[in-house]
Amino acid sequence: MNEVSLIKQVSAAVAGAVKTSFPELSLQEVEVVKAKDPSFGDYQCNSAMKLVKALKMAPRDIANAIVRAMQENPAATKMLARIEVAGPGFINMWVRPEYIAEWLQTELVTEEVVRKEPVKQKVIVDFSSPNIAKEMHVGHLRSTIIGDCLSRIFEALGYQVVRLNHVGDWGTAFGMLIAHIKSLPGYSFEVVSRYTLADLMRLYRESKALFDADEAFRKRAQLEVVKLQGGDKESLAIWKAICDISERAYQEIYDLLDVVIEVRGESFYNSILPGIVEELNCKGLVTISDGAKCVFLEGFINREGNQLPLMLQKSDGGYNYDTTDMAAIAQRIREERADRIIYVTDSGQATHFQMIFAAAKKAGILDPEKVRVDHVPFGLVLGADGKKFRTRSGETEKLIDLLRTAITQADTLLRERNPEWTEDEYKETALILGVGAVKYADLSSHRMSDYVFSYERMLRFEGNTAAFIMYSYVRTVSIQRKIGRQRSKLETLQLEHPSEVLLATMLCQFQEVLEEVADSLLPNRLTDYLYALSETFNGFFRDCRVEGDPRQEHRLALVHITGLVLRKGLELLGIKVPRKM
Ligand code: ARG
Repeated sequence: MNEVSLIKQVSAAVAGAVKTSFPELSLQEVEVVKAKDPSFGDYQCNSAMKLVKALKMAPRDIANAIVRAMQENPAATKMLARIEVAGPGFINMWVRPEYIAEWLQTELVTEEVVRKEPVKQKVIVDFSSPNIAKEMHVGHLRSTIIGDCLSRIFEALGYQVVRLNHVGDWGTAFGMLIAHIKSLPGYSFEVVSRYTLADLMRLYRESKALFDADEAFRKRAQLEVVKLQGGDKESLAIWKAICDISERAYQEIYDLLDVVIEVRGESFYNSILPGIVEELNCKGLVTISDGAKCVFLEGFINREGNQLPLMLQKSDGGYNYDTTDMAAIAQRIREERADRIIYVTDSGQATHFQMIFAAAKKAGILDPEKVRVDHVPFGLVLGADGKKFRTRSGETEKLIDLLRTAITQADTLLRERNPEWTEDEYKETALILGVGAVKYADLSSHRMSDYVFSYERMLRFEGNTAAFIMYSYVRTVSIQRKIGRQRSKLETLQLEHPSEVLLATMLCQFQEVLEEVADSLLPNRLTDYLYALSETFNGFFRDCRVEGDPRQEHRLALVHITGLVLRKGLELLGIKVPRKM
């Protein structure tokens, strides 16, 4: 069989049986899920209940017919040891240990441990996306970590991935900033190019205050936007300098996080903005409201019950966030030819993206049958007090400080635990553990819920933490080192002890967990898996002696693959593995 994952092979066997038993059914999609409880087997299928209507038969009779057909199919019985009907019509299935062993031998022999999907699709992941002249904050942290993790998983599965940093580098804010900078005493381009990010943030705050208070300034700022968007040389030069300063500051964070991303900010779409507004206008979607060009879509209303507009062009002619996203989605579909587009931002922007998607559909830009678009929303990061995470000074915590604190705390912890290490070992491991702990804490909480940021909790060595997974990985390495084996023979792997079977079955499921994340876009499914795998491994190690046992070679092979999967799993979360723990 050439299905990529075990669950797909099982699904194919069930689908085949449905087809043989009920050839009259036009839709033979079956749904197979991993059994929640091992006493119900490895996999479960609930499709019999769903076919009741179409077949006008009792669900148990349907299930029995499917099971009979499976038992007559040699490919299915080669794979499954037991197939049973339970309750109203559930089909429970147990995979044969021999099949699992064979799977491990053929599928996980390479260091890669992930099989690339045969279908190559292009996926654009729009993430991180901070705003120029503003510090990246903890809200952007989640986008960066989640977006990078999803990108890594898509890459591993064989997708062509384009990672885009849709930085906020265009619009009203720049008009204010440039107008203010130009009016400062001693203004020159020289001075501007020497600004730091902190200077820019201060200037931004000042200009915002002026904008809100001073009518004349507001006029000048608006004029500056028009000049900038019209391509005025001086304005463009200042703008470019501001962007460079900000981007250098973000790069420091990306380097620390080991995140690669291409900057393609809002300004990239400047030249196609008028065209996109015109296109929607020609298609009859634009309404003028208070002088602004708006698109009103069914089902989008605010708290007061009024229609929410997608504003494509303000009354002063300026374009904004909505316009850029309309242009971006069109460019990504038509020019980039993306098969999937994924946007990772806080859940506060959910309506914005639903409106962009709806408008793109209505305008015929987006055909959901051909291109899948997803907004991947996430919740807030909270402090110990349950309120939005802030530093003592009351400002939104600066990302770089937060990461540095995590590294320092990891260092302290490692010194306590391992007094005999060298300075280099502390340094190297603290970086891996500190950054890894921050990422793991973020990815392991369901992304839709808010989570409480706690250095103490994320650096624990027990429970669902980076340290625990790293520790389990290091253990696999040290067992192999102790026995003096780099690579164990897999060709003759046999599974006997129930703990061996349990561990081996879990190892086979790595692939399907990744496929599941590529669909649900929930990274915590991967952390849950790695946590369960680490616990299963520890259970195996408790129950099954490796060194000196007659089954040493078989068990060593399992230890080896566990190490590969844990390392790969962490790598896909964007986390490195330490040499020692
Ligand atoms: N710059 C925006 C923010 O900080 C996020 C941009 C997300 N991407 C997009 N295509 N709108 O909130």
